[in-house]
Amino acid sequence: MKTFRDKVNESAEFIKSKITAQPEIGMVLGSGLGVLAEEVEEKITIPYKEIPNFPVSTVAGHSGCLVFGKMEGKYVLIQNGRWHFYEGYPMSDVTFFIRVLFELGVKKLFVTNAAGGINPLFVPGDLMLISDHVNMMGTNPLIGPNDEHFGTRFPDLSKAYTPEYRQIALECAAKLGKRIHEGVYMGLTGPSYETQAELRMFQKWGVDAVGMSTVPEVIVAAHCGMKVIGISCITNIFSPGKAADHKEVLEAAEKVKPFFKSLTKLIVSKI
Ligand code: HPA
Repeated sequence: MKTFRDKVNESAEFIKSKITAQPEIGMVLGSGLGVLAEEVEEKITIPYKEIPNFPVSTVAGHSGCLVFGKMEGKYVLIQNGRWHFYEGYPMSDVTFFIRVLFELGVKKLFVTNAAGGINPLFVPGDLMLISDHVNMMGTNPLIGPNDEHFGTRFPDLSKAYTPEYRQIALECAAKLGKRIHEGVYMGLTGPSYETQAELRMFQKWGVDAVGMSTVPEVIVAAHCGMKVIGISCITNIFSPGKAADHKEVLEAAEKVKPFFKSLTKLIVSKI
C-alpha cells in the first residue's frame, strides 16, 4: 500500500515532468484572488484532476489548477483554489500542496486569503500582512505519526511568518505609496460565519482578522522548514448587529485587486 510520502512523491514527480524549471516560490491564492495567476509568464497550467493523488473538488464549477510560470523573473508554482477543511477534506488533503512543494525543493511560501476584519481600524479592501496566527480550527494538521523526512515532532511556530519577509512586505507597500496593516489572523473551520458573541470575544483576545484557511498550510510549511509570508485581503468588517455575506467578500476582493497584484509582485521580486 502507498504511504502518504509515496503519494506526495508521485504528485511531485508528475508535476516535475510538466514544468520547465525548479520553482523558487510556492503560492496559495485565496477566494477572489486568483487574478494573480494571470500575471505569470511562460505559463503552464496543470488541472488538479490530472495530478495523481491530488484532491479533486466535488463542488460543481470549482475546478482548481496549479499554475507554473515566471513572476518578476522568478519561477513560481501557484495553487489557484485551495481545499478548505469545511468542504470535508481531511487536514492531510488541505495541506497536501505544501508537502508537494517541499518535495519539489521549494523553500518559500506566499499565502493569501480573504478575511473578515475585526480590528476597528480596518475597512473593507484593506490588506493585512499576517504577523502571527491563532489556530481555532480545533485540530492540527500534524496530528498523527510524525515523518521525520518532513520535519520534527514538535516544530517551533514562534517565527512562522518570517520576520525578514514581513519587513520586506512593509517596505514594498511604502514604496507603492500605500499603507497596509499588520496583524493576527485567526483560523476557524467555518463554513458558518461567526456569531456576534464570538467576534466580540476574538476582538478582546487581540485578533485582527478571521478566516477559514491558511493556518493549516502555515503549520505544515513551518514543519517543513519553509519561510512564509501571508497577506489577508480584508473583505468585510465586523460591526455589532451586522450580518456577513459572501457577496460582500467577493466584491471587496474585486476592489483591492490592482493593489494586491502590484504589492504581491513587488514582494515576490524581493524575497
Ligand atoms: N469570517 C470568516 N471568514 C471570512 C470572513 C469572515 O467574516 N470574510 C472572509 N472570510
